[in-house]
Amino acid sequence: MLELKNITKTFGNVVANDGVSIRIEKGTIHAIVGENGAGKSTIMRVAYGFYTADSGEVYVDGKAVQIKNPHDAIALKIGMVHQHFMLVDTMTVAENIILGAETGGAANLDLERANKDILALSNELRLGVDPRARIEDISVGAQQRVELLKALYRNAKLLILDEPTAVLTPQETEEFFGILRRMRAAGKTIIIITHKLEEVLAISDFVTVMRDGRVVGNVKTAETSAKDLARMIVGRDVLLTVEKTDAQPKEAVLTVENLSVKNAHGDALDKVSFQVRAGEIVGVAGIEGNGQTELIEAVAGLVANANQNGKIYFEGQNITNLSARRRKELGIAHIPEDRHKRGLLLDSDLEENSILGVHYRLPVASGGFLNSTVIETRAKEIIERFDVRPPNPQLSARALSGGNQQKLIIGREFELNPKLLLVSQPTRGVDIGAIEFIHRKLIALRDAGTAVLLVSAELEEVTALSDRLLVIRQGKIVGEVNPAETSNEEIGLMMTSGN
Ligand SMILES: Nc1ncnc2c1ncn2[C@@H]1O[C@H](COP(=O)(O)OP(=O)(O)O)[C@@H](O)[C@H]1O
Ligand SMILES: [Mg+2]
Repeated sequence: MLELKNITKTFGNVVANDGVSIRIEKGTIHAIVGENGAGKSTIMRVAYGFYTADSGEVYVDGKAVQIKNPHDAIALKIGMVHQHFMLVDTMTVAENIILGAETGGAANLDLERANKDILALSNELRLGVDPRARIEDISVGAQQRVELLKALYRNAKLLILDEPTAVLTPQETEEFFGILRRMRAAGKTIIIITHKLEEVLAISDFVTVMRDGRVVGNVKTAETSAKDLARMIVGRDVLLTVEKTDAQPKEAVLTVENLSVKNAHGDALDKVSFQVRAGEIVGVAGIEGNGQTELIEAVAGLVANANQNGKIYFEGQNITNLSARRRKELGIAHIPEDRHKRGLLLDSDLEENSILGVHYRLPVASGGFLNSTVIETRAKEIIERFDVRPPNPQLSARALSGGNQQKLIIGREFELNPKLLLVSQPTRGVDIGAIEFIHRKLIALRDAGTAVLLVSAELEEVTALSDRLLVIRQGKIVGEVNPAETSNEEIGLMMTSGN
């Protein structure tokens, strides 16, 4: 279906693709894996005409082709769903699909007909998308299906999906894979980029592994394993499990009593009570959107008093009415789930980002002035200890891959030596080498006596890291389990249904 031969693509002096050759068989699902920065998105963007290669050849259906822009790709029946969706929030599904920026805007639209066609297409693959719904009113999972529909509406036979599952919950991912299988059965060819090895094993027929801009392996999925793939991806053996000793919890650091939180949709958290002690990791397992975000934000001090009820104690002190800044000063650090919204200033450099939250106080600032020597040293330390790549403090945060942005935030929050760490989705979108690293750091922090409250949509992650696990459903804690003695099936059941 598609053959890329000897593609080289450079950005300035960065060689993003170095003589990359990949062959994609018709009617298969082909996974592309590799660490952040390995060159996966670049090679796929070359295939879609988003970038022009410096050299190399592209064949579609055995014929040499020139793909100079996405129009050329669409004409060759190639569609791509990017890592970040390109939808207009205030328009409907159908409007987005027919007005997609890449078609250049059709003049005489027949919206009614489009609505019908899109509905038919959606029903055919059981996508459950309403063409008349506004983008801002539908879930992230549904938005992704709109992106798929957009490509299918233009008759794409080859679909390139760049990390489509990074934004999905495990349940949405399962549904999504059902759709991909139906598409394959209907004769489509699919290329999928993902970091999650279980997903690669579950969905793909073939796997191409990239490292440092090159292809380092091509395997049949049936003939490989998570362990082998991990070794190829990172270039060394990787621990896929978390190694830790039993926790030695000390006194209670965080006590939450009857905490309720309202958000725009109603009651998000309903009379939640629990404790986290020094030296333990307490996990919160649940399907996303069941109150986890509100819980973490309430403890961090980011929920308005009017929207919240109940009491929060930190080391015995009632902090319910303290500001987020005051709580941080007391020793509460927060690694937020939304790196772009709450974690970083994307257009500021790594030095500035490494002092966010402490930028106004000693030793970073005194008498209204920033201390540049202290800031430089601090940024350098974080970059070194947390292996932020590329290690250039003057780079803007935007220039880092998602995994490296996450390492920077984690490094910055660890630097505070917190007594309590609130951490949401610590490894979302992060590659396996960095996941191993982040997990080790979290365990080390626990062993040094920090109390950790962890939320993750990855059940494997939250069960592997936590010493105690609270299960949350519809804003209520419905149970506490010892994750070492409870199966994921049991926990999954508690997350989804009452008993
Ligand atoms: N538009 C760009 N400008 C400059 N450098 C880029 C650009 N896109 C990618 N790169 C660099 O090329 C390399 C490969 O990036 P990418 O293809 O995005 O990797 P992956 O998708 O595997 O994480 C990285 O070093 C990245 O920083
Ligand atoms: Mg990418």
